[in-house]
Amino acid sequence: MTENGPDWARLRQAFELPDAHYFMGNSLGPLPHATRSAMRAVIEEQWSQGLIRSWNLHDWFHLPEHVGDRIAALAGAGPGEIVAGDSTSVCLFKLASAALRHSGRWEIITDRDNFPTDLYVLSGIRDLYPEQVEIRPLPVADIPDAVSERTALVLLSHVDFRSGRLYDMEMINRRAHDRGALVLWDLSHSIGALPVALNASGADLAVGCTYKYLNGGPGSPAFSYVSRELQASLQPILRGWMGHASPFEMRADFEAAAGIRGMVVGTPEVLALSAVKASLSLFEGLDLRHLRERSLHMSGALMATIDGIDGDHGLEIVTPREDSQRGSHVAIRHAQAYGIVQALIRRGVIGDFRAPDLMRFAITPLYQSEADIEALGTQLAEVLATREWADPAFSRRSTVT
Ligand SMILES: Cc1ncc(COP(=O)(O)O)c(C=O)c1O
Repeated sequence: MTENGPDWARLRQAFELPDAHYFMGNSLGPLPHATRSAMRAVIEEQWSQGLIRSWNLHDWFHLPEHVGDRIAALAGAGPGEIVAGDSTSVCLFKLASAALRHSGRWEIITDRDNFPTDLYVLSGIRDLYPEQVEIRPLPVADIPDAVSERTALVLLSHVDFRSGRLYDMEMINRRAHDRGALVLWDLSHSIGALPVALNASGADLAVGCTYKYLNGGPGSPAFSYVSRELQASLQPILRGWMGHASPFEMRADFEAAAGIRGMVVGTPEVLALSAVKASLSLFEGLDLRHLRERSLHMSGALMATIDGIDGDHGLEIVTPREDSQRGSHVAIRHAQAYGIVQALIRRGVIGDFRAPDLMRFAITPLYQSEADIEALGTQLAEVLATREWADPAFSRRSTVT
């Protein structure tokens, strides 16, 4: 800490950064030095030497809860309310199926523009009970009034993956609870990017990934939150032996472990969880309000830079200008978005493209500075002025955009 808050330059040194301006914290965070050394220890000592004994010696068995508790500190949740493991998609299925069974109702409301996996998971749940389950994809603005006594669950992303719009968690929880419905939040684009207040907003359920703003590594495990209150009655539907009350008794009948552990399904991903545990250490002692303040300042500066680029180029900022309504990335619409992003990457400014016409740039104060924003502005202006986006090299799209 300095007098004015965290020492951002020092925090930046905690990462191994590529020789590029990196704006993809909303897709894959960079590698922290701490992760490299922690992984070496896990592989060379715990796995290589400890082998099977490490399940007890190094408490591998409880890694999902240990990592979960660290995430809870960033999510406004308490110890024992979050467990880490599986992908976000699997966690969504776990919690949505449990919520549906718990409520005894059949309607699920979601944002019609939600992240595709959220919609796909719901469509799978509907196909389990095609006669009963009704999925209602709606514009988010219509959702608070659409919740009724028939609604089991509302599934929403806290920050929209396209526009970067931040939704009002407290208001939506309240409106859903007024009608007896539960809310499941997808925190993939907010965890580690801004303070999340699960408990204070009265949240029931949440999931999120750790490879974006938490820098857990490619394909790192996701997490599931079940409020302490709901834990007493919510039964897992996706059941596995690692969520059993006594897994090594090898009983034929399922009895969920007490608390959040019941949401664990299979064997914990020890290597991947160890990487997340290490990357989370970077957040220790960091007040997320400082991070938020700097993120808003930087995304505001990026939007002002874009406004300053010649208006004839047809750039349209789709991210809300209002501080309270945006997360931590800036999305810009342009008919040639794909080619522009490719040209920027070639120039050492890494952002991404989301079909059909959006480019996204994440703001991540842990390892970015004003110089990155300036570089993005300069390079973007040049790509547009020179029409470099039209380079035939960009006419074929890669598998991952
Ligand atoms: C909002 C949101 N939810 C879910 C996912 C998918 O998560 P996973 O691949 O861990 O299942 C993503 C991936 O980017 C996402 O942005």
